[in-house]
Amino acid sequence: MDDAALIHPTHFKLKMSQKSIQEQLNTLRQTLEQYNYEYYVLDAPTVPDSEYDRTLKALIELEKVHPELISPTSPTQRVGGVPLEKFDQVKHLKPMLSLDNVFGQEDLQAFEQRLQDRLKDKSPIDYVLEPKLDGIAVSLLYQAGKLTRAATRGDGETGEDITQNVRTIGSVPLTLRGSGWPDTLEVRGEIYLPKKGFETLNDNARAKGEKGFMNPRNAAAGSLRQLDASITATRPLEMCCYSAGFIEGGTLPDNQYDTLNQFHAWGFRINALMQKAHSVKDCLSYVDSILAQRETLDYDIDGVVIKVNPFALQNRLGFVAKAPRWATAFKFPAQEEMTTLETVEFQVGRTGAITPKAVLTPVFVGGVTISNATLHNADEIERLGLMIGDTVIVRRAGDVIPQIVSVVISKRPATARSIVFPTTCPVCDSPLEKDENEAVFRCTGGLSCNAQMKRAIEHFASRKAMDIDGLGTKIIDQLVDLNHVGHLDELYQLDQTTLSSMERLGDKSAANLINALEASKKTTLARFIYALGIREVGETTAKSLAKHFSSMDKLAEASEDTLLAINDIGPIVADHIVHFFENPKNTAVIASLLDSGINFESTQATVASDHEVSGKTVVLTGNLDSLSRDEATEKLELLGAIVTKSVSKKTDIVVAGAKAGSKKTKAEALGIMVVDEAQLLEWLDS
Ligand code: IVH
Repeated sequence: MDDAALIHPTHFKLKMSQKSIQEQLNTLRQTLEQYNYEYYVLDAPTVPDSEYDRTLKALIELEKVHPELISPTSPTQRVGGVPLEKFDQVKHLKPMLSLDNVFGQEDLQAFEQRLQDRLKDKSPIDYVLEPKLDGIAVSLLYQAGKLTRAATRGDGETGEDITQNVRTIGSVPLTLRGSGWPDTLEVRGEIYLPKKGFETLNDNARAKGEKGFMNPRNAAAGSLRQLDASITATRPLEMCCYSAGFIEGGTLPDNQYDTLNQFHAWGFRINALMQKAHSVKDCLSYVDSILAQRETLDYDIDGVVIKVNPFALQNRLGFVAKAPRWATAFKFPAQEEMTTLETVEFQVGRTGAITPKAVLTPVFVGGVTISNATLHNADEIERLGLMIGDTVIVRRAGDVIPQIVSVVISKRPATARSIVFPTTCPVCDSPLEKDENEAVFRCTGGLSCNAQMKRAIEHFASRKAMDIDGLGTKIIDQLVDLNHVGHLDELYQLDQTTLSSMERLGDKSAANLINALEASKKTTLARFIYALGIREVGETTAKSLAKHFSSMDKLAEASEDTLLAINDIGPIVADHIVHFFENPKNTAVIASLLDSGINFESTQATVASDHEVSGKTVVLTGNLDSLSRDEATEKLELLGAIVTKSVSKKTDIVVAGAKAGSKKTKAEALGIMVVDEAQLLEWLDS
């Protein structure tokens, strides 16, 4: 045996195992990147998180044993490494431009006019339209298909190197997919924090007593500015690409639209709402449609970007100063504006909760003028560090109640005053109390507090409760302020003379109101229970209670244990119910209400058990023409059906009205009986 023969087998074995380890690493890495791509780019995961975690763990273990084989594009490098001292400066290979704005139809027409003038051609122009994401612009550099550098826009010429941070973002490919990419490829896009991720991030921050971020854009910027990328890794950032930058050693399609689709094929996320357009009119209807969807999108946008599609035209048009001539941003109304806090008022809700309301210098935001914002509770005021006289940033998104998002401390005037939370009820002066595990203070005055009384009457009279037609807020305010009604039962003691003497109420309306009060006496036990406004007893709970006890007396005597035995009733609700009936004032009012002639259609007795739908679980969906959903529910329940809101295997029948959507589809998929409104009416008639 010579030396070579001795050495050879081991050497050979070593080489073999090295190779198979490299292969194993490659397979694990490719598998993980495939999972990432499906999850972050396609929004269509094919495996559960646990499978991803197992694969990642296997890769981590293998790399631990072979640290020399770790590469910067390994998915394990997405978690952040050694913190940086500072960010390096990066000179962009091609300047990163910004966009000019247009604010309406005329501006957009003028934009097209300028394009046509410059091109000396009146033919229609092909555009590409996309939502304008409200995040942070980023440039990603790929060399030989590998991510080698990521940078912020900075001043457009020079940005900061945020490669470590960007590597942690799941929707950024570390290695390009497919083939055919240029040797050097710069991809540009926006990094943003989806609204959901933003809320989770802020909830977590507040739970820890920290301040939280002002909006998703600031949160995204803050997350990218971390010198320690392992912090960035915990932030659910996303990246969506919108244009090509510098390229060398290869080509791209000859227009924007195809280029973005090509980027998608190479592993990037692109905006699913991207569309082509061929006229200003198309652009405007796209703008309208995106504006209408704004609130429901899961990311913030501040407009629509309109770009000329063919690169040949883009090149002929060129750019001025720092913006291209071939693109513009159609800006949406801002959702945040600055204004001042003039004062804070305290309102008392139906259950006595004291809510601070910010009174603001009127400001135009989100398309309307606002002069109030909710402040939720004392904790919120403290969290914001708010003082009267402060300059604040208010946000109004869609139909959501306007909120104060932050205080501009640098603008605080010397005259700013602290907000003093009342110690007694601002309406009735009763002491306030605060539950240990709640952030709200409550007035202890109960129904002797005028504010609570007013809200209680509003609730009592509302459509799903006693349904007293014509008893609106303005009348209720007068009834209470003039001491005509001090308890709910006194509503039924009102007479025509008292009512007609009130402002805004002529003889006719007074008579109508008396009739409506009379008509409301004929009701159901469930509606009556709901109308009493017991804390946490909503419509559904009231129905369960009515069904279970079938009389007011039995309910009033029920112990906590008896209540807890009922489906859907937990300890908190049970406690509220018992407390309510322990209070002699409440039982006296109930007795007096019943005395005034309130009577119940005995639902228990008339509930059918022999009807086709008796005992069947029914779901109503879509629009019904001849009756409301509430009416249909009530009638079906009288026939002994159980009406629920969502379709499951337990559902027996789905009534699908006009424009029925996913519930109908689901029912069909589950093989559940689907009927139309005509069939429903037939059942209700029989
Ligand atoms: S194109 C030369 N498309 O808006 C044009 N920009 O105000 C380059 N932005 O810095 C931009 N969404 O950060 C383009 N779909 C989109 C965009 C978008 C957001 C941002 C981008 C840019 C800023 C310009």
